[in-house]
Amino acid sequence: MDLVIRNTTLPDGRTGIDIGILDGRIAALAPQLAARGVREIDAAGDLVSPPFVDAHFHMDATLSYGLPRVNQSGTLLEGIALWGELKPQLSQDALIERALRYCDWAVARGLLAIRTHVDVCDDRLLAVEALLEVKRRVAPYLDLQLVAFPQDGLLRSANAFENLKRSIDMGVDVVGGIPHFERTMAQGAESVRLLCEFAAERGLRVDMHCDESDDPMSRHIETLAYETQRLGLQGRVAGSHLTSMHSMDNYYVSKLIPLIAESGVAAIANPLINITLQGRNDTYPKRRGMTRVPELMAAGVDVAFGHDCVLDPWYGMGSGDMLEVAHMGLHVAQMTGLEAMQSCFTAITETPARILGLDGYGLAPGCHADLVILDAGSTVEAIRLRAPRRLVLRRGQVVAEAPAAASRLHLQGRPGSADFRLGRG
Ligand code: FE2
Repeated sequence: MDLVIRNTTLPDGRTGIDIGILDGRIAALAPQLAARGVREIDAAGDLVSPPFVDAHFHMDATLSYGLPRVNQSGTLLEGIALWGELKPQLSQDALIERALRYCDWAVARGLLAIRTHVDVCDDRLLAVEALLEVKRRVAPYLDLQLVAFPQDGLLRSANAFENLKRSIDMGVDVVGGIPHFERTMAQGAESVRLLCEFAAERGLRVDMHCDESDDPMSRHIETLAYETQRLGLQGRVAGSHLTSMHSMDNYYVSKLIPLIAESGVAAIANPLINITLQGRNDTYPKRRGMTRVPELMAAGVDVAFGHDCVLDPWYGMGSGDMLEVAHMGLHVAQMTGLEAMQSCFTAITETPARILGLDGYGLAPGCHADLVILDAGSTVEAIRLRAPRRLVLRRGQVVAEAPAAASRLHLQGRPGSADFRLGRG
Protein backbone atom coordinates (compact mmCIF):
# COMPACT_ATOMS: atom_id res chain seq x y z
CA MET A 1 0.00 0.00 0.00
CA ASP A 2 1.09 3.58 -0.57
CA LEU A 3 -0.57 4.61 2.67
CA VAL A 4 -2.37 2.92 5.55
CA ILE A 5 -4.47 4.95 7.99
CA ARG A 6 -4.78 2.92 11.19
CA ASN A 7 -7.48 2.86 13.86
CA THR A 8 -10.14 5.08 12.34
CA THR A 9 -13.76 5.60 13.32
CA LEU A 10 -16.13 5.65 10.36
CA PRO A 11 -19.28 7.77 9.91
CA ASP A 12 -21.45 4.66 10.36
CA GLY A 13 -19.97 4.17 13.84
CA ARG A 14 -17.54 1.31 13.12
CA THR A 15 -14.34 1.70 15.10
CA GLY A 16 -10.81 0.32 14.84
CA ILE A 17 -10.90 0.27 11.05
CA ASP A 18 -7.70 0.51 8.95
CA ILE A 19 -7.85 2.05 5.49
CA GLY A 20 -5.31 0.94 2.87
CA ILE A 21 -4.66 3.23 -0.10
CA LEU A 22 -3.03 2.31 -3.39
CA ASP A 23 -2.73 4.39 -6.58
CA GLY A 24 -5.08 7.09 -5.28
CA ARG A 25 -7.89 4.72 -4.43
CA ILE A 26 -9.10 2.90 -1.33
CA ALA A 27 -7.76 -0.63 -1.76
CA ALA A 28 -8.88 -2.16 1.52
CA LEU A 29 -10.89 -1.22 4.56
CA ALA A 30 -10.94 -3.61 7.51
CA PRO A 31 -9.93 -4.00 11.16
CA GLN A 32 -6.19 -4.65 11.63
CA LEU A 33 -5.18 -4.71 8.02
CA ALA A 34 -2.15 -6.98 7.56
CA ALA A 35 -0.74 -4.99 4.62
CA ARG A 36 1.90 -2.37 5.42
CA GLY A 37 1.99 1.08 3.94
CA VAL A 38 4.97 3.03 2.60
CA ARG A 39 3.50 5.67 4.88
CA GLU A 40 1.39 4.90 7.95
CA ILE A 41 -0.86 7.33 9.84
CA ASP A 42 -2.29 6.56 13.27
CA ALA A 43 -5.76 8.12 13.40
CA ALA A 44 -6.02 7.18 17.11
CA GLY A 45 -9.78 6.67 16.89
CA ASP A 46 -10.49 9.89 15.00
CA LEU A 47 -13.41 10.05 12.59
CA VAL A 48 -12.49 9.53 8.94
CA SER A 49 -15.06 10.68 6.44
CA PRO A 50 -15.28 11.10 2.70
CA PRO A 51 -14.91 14.81 1.90
CA PHE A 52 -17.64 17.37 2.38
CA VAL A 53 -19.72 18.27 -0.65
CA ASP A 54 -21.50 21.60 -1.09
CA ALA A 55 -24.56 21.12 -3.32
CA HIS A 56 -25.35 24.83 -3.60
CA PHE A 57 -22.98 27.75 -3.89
CA HIS A 58 -22.39 31.02 -5.79
CA MET A 59 -18.69 31.17 -6.57
CA ASP A 60 -19.00 34.10 -8.98
CA ALA A 61 -20.04 36.33 -6.08
CA THR A 62 -17.99 34.91 -3.23
CA LEU A 63 -15.50 37.06 -1.31
CA SER A 64 -16.90 40.22 -2.93
CA TYR A 65 -18.29 41.47 0.38
CA GLY A 66 -18.29 45.28 0.47
CA LEU A 67 -18.01 45.66 -3.33
CA PRO A 68 -19.13 48.20 -4.35
CA ARG A 69 -20.83 48.71 -0.98
CA VAL A 70 -22.27 46.54 1.79
CA ASN A 71 -25.88 45.33 1.88
CA GLN A 72 -27.35 47.73 4.45
CA SER A 73 -30.71 46.05 4.93
CA GLY A 74 -29.27 42.55 4.66
CA THR A 75 -32.27 41.51 2.55
CA LEU A 76 -32.41 39.18 -0.47
CA LEU A 77 -33.76 41.92 -2.73
CA GLU A 78 -31.09 44.48 -1.78
CA GLY A 79 -28.56 41.69 -2.33
CA ILE A 80 -29.89 41.06 -5.87
CA ALA A 81 -29.85 44.84 -6.57
CA LEU A 82 -26.30 45.12 -5.23
CA TRP A 83 -25.17 42.17 -7.37
CA GLY A 84 -26.69 44.05 -10.35
CA GLU A 85 -24.51 47.06 -9.46
CA LEU A 86 -21.42 44.92 -9.12
CA LYS A 87 -21.84 42.88 -12.33
CA PRO A 88 -20.73 45.56 -14.82
CA GLN A 89 -17.61 46.17 -12.72
CA LEU A 90 -16.52 42.53 -12.56
CA SER A 91 -13.20 41.70 -14.11
CA GLN A 92 -12.33 38.16 -15.06
CA ASP A 93 -8.99 38.21 -13.26
CA ALA A 94 -10.48 39.41 -9.99
CA LEU A 95 -13.25 36.86 -10.22
CA ILE A 96 -10.80 34.02 -10.83
CA GLU A 97 -8.59 35.22 -7.98
CA ARG A 98 -11.49 35.33 -5.50
CA ALA A 99 -12.79 31.92 -6.60
CA LEU A 100 -9.34 30.32 -6.29
CA ARG A 101 -8.95 31.82 -2.83
CA TYR A 102 -12.31 30.38 -1.82
CA CYS A 103 -11.24 26.96 -3.15
CA ASP A 104 -8.15 27.19 -0.91
CA TRP A 105 -10.46 27.71 2.06
CA ALA A 106 -12.67 24.83 0.89
CA VAL A 107 -9.73 22.41 0.69
CA ALA A 108 -8.59 23.46 4.18
CA ARG A 109 -12.12 22.66 5.39
CA GLY A 110 -12.17 19.23 3.72
CA LEU A 111 -14.70 20.46 1.16
CA LEU A 112 -13.59 18.85 -2.09
CA ALA A 113 -16.69 19.10 -4.30
CA ILE A 114 -18.83 22.16 -4.94
CA ARG A 115 -21.82 22.74 -7.22
CA THR A 116 -21.82 26.45 -7.99
CA HIS A 117 -24.44 28.45 -9.82
CA VAL A 118 -23.05 30.98 -12.28
CA ASP A 119 -25.09 33.94 -13.42
CA VAL A 120 -25.68 33.85 -17.20
CA CYS A 121 -27.65 37.10 -17.49
CA ASP A 122 -24.63 39.18 -18.47
CA ASP A 123 -24.32 38.91 -22.27
CA ARG A 124 -20.51 38.85 -21.99
CA LEU A 125 -20.71 35.57 -20.02
CA LEU A 126 -17.60 36.77 -18.28
CA ALA A 127 -18.36 34.91 -15.05
CA VAL A 128 -18.99 31.71 -17.03
CA GLU A 129 -15.61 31.95 -18.73
CA ALA A 130 -13.92 32.74 -15.43
CA LEU A 131 -15.46 29.83 -13.55
CA LEU A 132 -14.74 27.39 -16.39
CA GLU A 133 -11.11 28.47 -16.04
CA VAL A 134 -11.28 28.00 -12.25
CA LYS A 135 -12.83 24.55 -12.77
CA ARG A 136 -9.86 23.57 -14.96
CA ARG A 137 -7.31 24.93 -12.52
CA VAL A 138 -8.73 23.34 -9.36
CA ALA A 139 -9.56 19.98 -10.98
CA PRO A 140 -6.53 18.22 -9.42
CA TYR A 141 -7.84 18.93 -5.92
CA LEU A 142 -11.51 19.94 -6.10
CA ASP A 143 -14.51 18.92 -8.22
CA LEU A 144 -16.32 22.02 -9.37
CA GLN A 145 -19.69 21.59 -11.06
CA LEU A 146 -21.26 24.62 -12.74
CA VAL A 147 -24.97 25.45 -13.03
CA ALA A 148 -26.16 27.95 -15.67
CA PHE A 149 -28.20 30.29 -13.51
CA PRO A 150 -30.46 32.99 -15.03
CA GLN A 151 -30.39 35.21 -11.93
CA ASP A 152 -32.64 37.91 -13.44
CA GLY A 153 -35.23 35.44 -14.74
CA LEU A 154 -35.20 33.17 -17.79
CA LEU A 155 -38.17 34.93 -19.41
CA ARG A 156 -37.93 38.20 -17.50
CA SER A 157 -34.41 39.03 -18.65
CA ALA A 158 -33.63 39.59 -22.34
CA ASN A 159 -31.29 36.95 -23.85
CA ALA A 160 -31.26 34.84 -20.69
CA PHE A 161 -32.29 31.59 -22.42
CA GLU A 162 -29.87 32.16 -25.30
CA ASN A 163 -27.08 32.92 -22.84
CA LEU A 164 -27.95 29.83 -20.83
CA LYS A 165 -27.73 27.66 -23.95
CA ARG A 166 -24.44 29.28 -24.94
CA SER A 167 -22.98 28.66 -21.50
CA ILE A 168 -23.97 24.98 -21.70
CA ASP A 169 -22.24 24.81 -25.09
CA MET A 170 -19.15 26.33 -23.46
CA GLY A 171 -19.01 23.51 -20.89
CA VAL A 172 -21.34 24.43 -18.02
CA ASP A 173 -22.71 21.19 -16.58
CA VAL A 174 -26.19 21.77 -15.16
CA VAL A 175 -29.37 23.66 -16.15
CA GLY A 176 -30.51 26.25 -13.57
CA GLY A 177 -33.60 28.42 -13.17
CA ILE A 178 -35.43 30.82 -10.89
CA PRO A 179 -39.17 30.41 -11.52
CA HIS A 180 -40.38 32.46 -8.51
CA PHE A 181 -38.51 35.49 -9.89
CA GLU A 182 -40.28 35.46 -13.27
CA ARG A 183 -42.99 38.10 -13.80
CA THR A 184 -45.99 35.87 -13.10
CA MET A 185 -46.71 32.44 -11.66
CA ALA A 186 -47.62 31.31 -15.19
CA GLN A 187 -44.27 32.51 -16.56
CA GLY A 188 -42.54 30.76 -13.68
CA ALA A 189 -44.22 27.48 -14.62
CA GLU A 190 -43.38 28.09 -18.29
CA SER A 191 -39.70 28.61 -17.40
CA VAL A 192 -39.64 25.29 -15.53
CA ARG A 193 -41.15 23.50 -18.54
CA LEU A 194 -38.72 25.09 -21.03
CA LEU A 195 -35.67 24.38 -18.87
CA CYS A 196 -36.62 20.77 -18.13
CA GLU A 197 -37.29 20.12 -21.83
CA PHE A 198 -33.90 21.63 -22.69
CA ALA A 199 -32.20 19.45 -20.05
CA ALA A 200 -33.99 16.34 -21.34
CA GLU A 201 -32.92 17.12 -24.91
CA ARG A 202 -29.29 17.56 -23.88
CA GLY A 203 -29.19 14.78 -21.25
CA LEU A 204 -28.27 17.21 -18.47
CA ARG A 205 -28.98 17.56 -14.78
CA VAL A 206 -31.25 20.33 -13.47
CA ASP A 207 -30.92 22.42 -10.31
CA MET A 208 -33.28 25.35 -9.91
CA HIS A 209 -33.56 28.03 -7.31
CA CYS A 210 -37.18 27.21 -6.60
CA ASP A 211 -39.65 29.08 -4.42
CA GLU A 212 -37.04 31.06 -2.47
CA SER A 213 -39.89 33.03 -0.99
CA ASP A 214 -42.13 33.23 2.08
CA ASP A 215 -45.17 33.18 -0.21
CA PRO A 216 -47.06 29.94 0.55
CA MET A 217 -48.61 30.12 -2.93
CA SER A 218 -45.21 29.90 -4.62
CA ARG A 219 -45.61 26.30 -5.82
CA HIS A 220 -43.10 25.90 -8.63
CA ILE A 221 -41.70 22.79 -6.93
CA GLU A 222 -44.98 21.11 -7.90
CA THR A 223 -44.32 21.93 -11.56
CA LEU A 224 -40.67 20.87 -11.25
CA ALA A 225 -41.73 17.48 -9.86
CA TYR A 226 -44.35 17.11 -12.62
CA GLU A 227 -41.95 17.99 -15.46
CA THR A 228 -39.28 15.68 -13.98
CA GLN A 229 -41.71 12.80 -14.11
CA ARG A 230 -43.17 13.70 -17.52
CA LEU A 231 -39.74 13.91 -19.14
CA GLY A 232 -38.16 10.94 -17.35
CA LEU A 233 -35.57 13.06 -15.52
CA GLN A 234 -35.87 11.16 -12.22
CA GLY A 235 -32.68 11.27 -10.14
CA ARG A 236 -31.21 14.16 -12.16
CA VAL A 237 -33.22 17.10 -10.79
CA ALA A 238 -32.86 19.16 -7.63
CA GLY A 239 -34.97 21.97 -6.21
CA SER A 240 -32.84 24.45 -4.27
CA HIS A 241 -34.14 26.45 -1.32
CA LEU A 242 -37.87 25.50 -1.49
CA THR A 243 -38.41 27.97 1.38
CA SER A 244 -42.07 28.67 0.51
CA MET A 245 -42.75 25.12 1.71
CA HIS A 246 -42.04 26.41 5.22
CA SER A 247 -45.14 28.62 4.96
CA MET A 248 -47.41 26.34 2.92
CA ASP A 249 -50.71 24.96 4.07
CA ASN A 250 -50.16 21.59 5.79
CA TYR A 251 -52.88 19.83 3.83
CA TYR A 252 -51.30 20.89 0.52
CA VAL A 253 -47.86 19.76 1.74
CA SER A 254 -49.31 16.34 2.62
CA LYS A 255 -50.01 15.96 -1.11
CA LEU A 256 -46.85 17.70 -2.33
CA ILE A 257 -44.14 15.76 -0.46
CA PRO A 258 -45.22 12.34 -1.82
CA LEU A 259 -45.24 13.88 -5.32
CA ILE A 260 -41.66 15.11 -4.84
CA ALA A 261 -40.60 11.68 -3.53
CA GLU A 262 -42.30 9.91 -6.44
CA SER A 263 -40.61 12.16 -9.00
CA GLY A 264 -37.13 11.54 -7.56
CA VAL A 265 -36.47 15.28 -7.21
CA ALA A 266 -33.84 16.09 -4.57
CA ALA A 267 -34.14 19.05 -2.19
CA ILE A 268 -31.31 21.38 -1.25
CA ALA A 269 -31.82 23.56 1.82
CA ASN A 270 -29.42 26.38 2.63
CA PRO A 271 -29.85 26.83 6.38
CA LEU A 272 -27.46 29.75 6.99
CA ILE A 273 -29.01 31.80 4.23
CA ASN A 274 -32.62 30.69 4.69
CA ILE A 275 -32.60 31.61 8.39
CA THR A 276 -31.15 35.05 7.64
CA LEU A 277 -33.03 36.03 4.45
CA GLN A 278 -36.50 34.56 4.94
CA GLY A 279 -39.20 35.93 7.22
CA ARG A 280 -37.92 39.48 6.69
CA ASN A 281 -41.40 40.93 6.28
CA ASP A 282 -42.63 39.24 9.45
CA THR A 283 -42.83 40.95 12.82
CA TYR A 284 -43.25 38.28 15.50
CA PRO A 285 -43.58 35.35 15.43
CA LYS A 286 -40.93 35.41 12.71
CA ARG A 287 -40.71 32.46 10.32
CA ARG A 288 -37.49 30.43 10.05
CA GLY A 289 -37.98 29.98 6.31
CA MET A 290 -36.07 26.74 5.84
CA THR A 291 -37.86 24.02 3.90
CA ARG A 292 -39.33 20.98 5.68
CA VAL A 293 -36.12 18.99 5.96
CA PRO A 294 -37.03 16.14 8.37
CA GLU A 295 -40.42 15.61 6.70
CA LEU A 296 -38.81 15.40 3.24
CA MET A 297 -36.16 13.00 4.55
CA ALA A 298 -38.83 10.83 6.19
CA ALA A 299 -40.60 10.58 2.82
CA GLY A 300 -37.39 9.28 1.24
CA VAL A 301 -36.42 12.49 -0.58
CA ASP A 302 -32.68 13.16 -0.91
CA VAL A 303 -32.04 16.32 1.12
CA ALA A 304 -28.70 18.11 1.14
CA PHE A 305 -27.55 21.23 2.96
CA GLY A 306 -25.74 23.88 0.91
CA HIS A 307 -23.65 26.88 1.95
CA ASP A 308 -25.10 29.15 -0.79
CA CYS A 309 -23.10 32.27 0.11
CA VAL A 310 -19.83 33.32 1.74
CA LEU A 311 -18.91 37.00 2.03
CA ASP A 312 -21.02 38.25 -0.87
CA PRO A 313 -23.89 40.72 -1.45
CA TRP A 314 -26.27 38.43 0.46
CA TYR A 315 -24.22 37.23 3.40
CA GLY A 316 -21.32 38.74 5.31
CA MET A 317 -20.31 35.57 7.15
CA GLY A 318 -18.86 32.13 6.40
CA SER A 319 -15.55 30.42 5.66
CA GLY A 320 -16.40 27.37 3.57
CA ASP A 321 -17.12 25.18 6.57
CA MET A 322 -19.87 22.65 5.78
CA LEU A 323 -19.92 21.60 9.45
CA GLU A 324 -21.13 25.11 10.26
CA VAL A 325 -23.86 24.65 7.64
CA ALA A 326 -24.92 21.30 9.15
CA HIS A 327 -24.81 22.82 12.64
CA MET A 328 -27.24 25.56 11.62
CA GLY A 329 -29.46 23.12 9.68
CA LEU A 330 -29.68 20.83 12.71
CA HIS A 331 -30.82 23.73 14.90
CA VAL A 332 -33.24 25.37 12.48
CA ALA A 333 -34.94 22.04 11.69
CA GLN A 334 -34.89 20.99 15.37
CA MET A 335 -33.16 17.77 14.31
CA THR A 336 -31.81 16.96 17.77
CA GLY A 337 -32.58 13.22 18.01
CA LEU A 338 -29.51 11.01 17.53
CA GLU A 339 -30.48 9.70 14.08
CA ALA A 340 -31.60 13.15 13.02
CA MET A 341 -28.23 14.65 14.01
CA GLN A 342 -26.42 11.90 12.12
CA SER A 343 -28.51 12.59 9.02
CA CYS A 344 -27.33 16.22 9.12
CA PHE A 345 -23.81 14.88 8.48
CA THR A 346 -25.10 12.76 5.58
CA ALA A 347 -26.68 15.95 4.18
CA ILE A 348 -23.20 17.47 3.68
CA THR A 349 -21.47 14.29 2.46
CA GLU A 350 -23.16 11.29 0.80
CA THR A 351 -26.43 12.92 -0.24
CA PRO A 352 -24.95 15.91 -2.08
CA ALA A 353 -22.37 13.55 -3.66
CA ARG A 354 -25.32 11.61 -5.10
CA ILE A 355 -27.07 14.81 -6.23
CA LEU A 356 -23.92 15.96 -8.05
CA GLY A 357 -23.45 12.46 -9.49
CA LEU A 358 -19.86 12.28 -8.21
CA ASP A 359 -17.93 9.32 -9.51
CA GLY A 360 -16.00 7.13 -7.05
CA TYR A 361 -17.18 8.95 -3.93
CA GLY A 362 -17.37 7.09 -0.65
CA LEU A 363 -15.66 4.80 1.82
CA ALA A 364 -15.42 1.47 0.04
CA PRO A 365 -12.69 -0.38 -1.81
CA GLY A 366 -12.43 1.11 -5.30
CA CYS A 367 -13.52 4.62 -4.27
CA HIS A 368 -11.16 7.56 -4.68
CA ALA A 369 -8.91 8.00 -1.65
CA ASP A 370 -10.46 11.39 -0.91
CA LEU A 371 -10.68 11.52 2.87
CA VAL A 372 -10.90 13.86 5.83
CA ILE A 373 -9.55 12.98 9.27
CA LEU A 374 -11.45 15.00 11.84
CA ASP A 375 -10.64 15.85 15.44
CA ALA A 376 -13.87 14.15 16.56
CA GLY A 377 -15.04 10.71 17.62
CA SER A 378 -18.30 10.67 15.67
CA THR A 379 -20.26 12.54 13.02
CA VAL A 380 -22.38 14.22 15.69
CA GLU A 381 -19.26 15.33 17.56
CA ALA A 382 -17.81 16.66 14.31
CA ILE A 383 -20.88 18.88 13.89
CA ARG A 384 -20.93 19.91 17.56
CA LEU A 385 -17.29 21.00 17.54
CA ARG A 386 -17.06 22.10 13.88
CA ALA A 387 -14.06 19.84 14.38
CA PRO A 388 -10.62 20.74 12.99
CA ARG A 389 -9.77 18.90 9.82
CA ARG A 390 -6.53 17.25 10.93
CA LEU A 391 -5.73 15.88 7.47
CA VAL A 392 -7.42 16.26 4.11
CA LEU A 393 -6.48 13.77 1.41
CA ARG A 394 -7.16 13.93 -2.30
CA ARG A 395 -6.41 10.77 -4.30
CA GLY A 396 -4.33 9.58 -1.36
CA GLN A 397 -2.17 12.73 -1.11
CA VAL A 398 -2.32 15.12 1.83
CA VAL A 399 -3.62 18.48 0.56
CA ALA A 400 -4.30 20.22 3.89
CA GLU A 401 -3.55 19.74 7.56
CA ALA A 402 -4.49 21.48 10.78
CA PRO A 403 -3.65 21.04 14.46
CA ALA A 404 -6.14 19.53 16.90
CA ALA A 405 -8.26 21.93 18.92
CA ALA A 406 -6.40 22.60 22.13
CA SER A 407 -6.61 25.21 24.83
CA ARG A 408 -4.13 25.44 27.68
CA LEU A 409 -5.73 26.19 31.03
CA HIS A 410 -4.19 28.09 33.91
CA LEU A 411 -6.48 27.07 36.76
CA GLN A 412 -5.55 25.87 40.22
CA GLY A 413 -6.57 22.27 40.84
CA ARG A 414 -7.83 21.74 37.29
CA PRO A 415 -6.21 19.99 34.31
CA GLY A 416 -3.69 21.89 32.23
CA SER A 417 -5.79 21.75 29.08
CA ALA A 418 -9.41 21.56 27.93
CA ASP A 419 -10.40 18.57 25.78
CA PHE A 420 -13.80 19.19 24.25
CA ARG A 421 -14.32 15.62 23.04
CA LEU A 422 -16.83 13.63 25.02
CA GLY A 423 -15.44 10.41 26.40
CA ARG A 424 -11.89 11.72 26.47
CA GLY A 425 -9.97 13.87 28.89
FE1 FE2 B 1 -28.52 30.31 -4.27
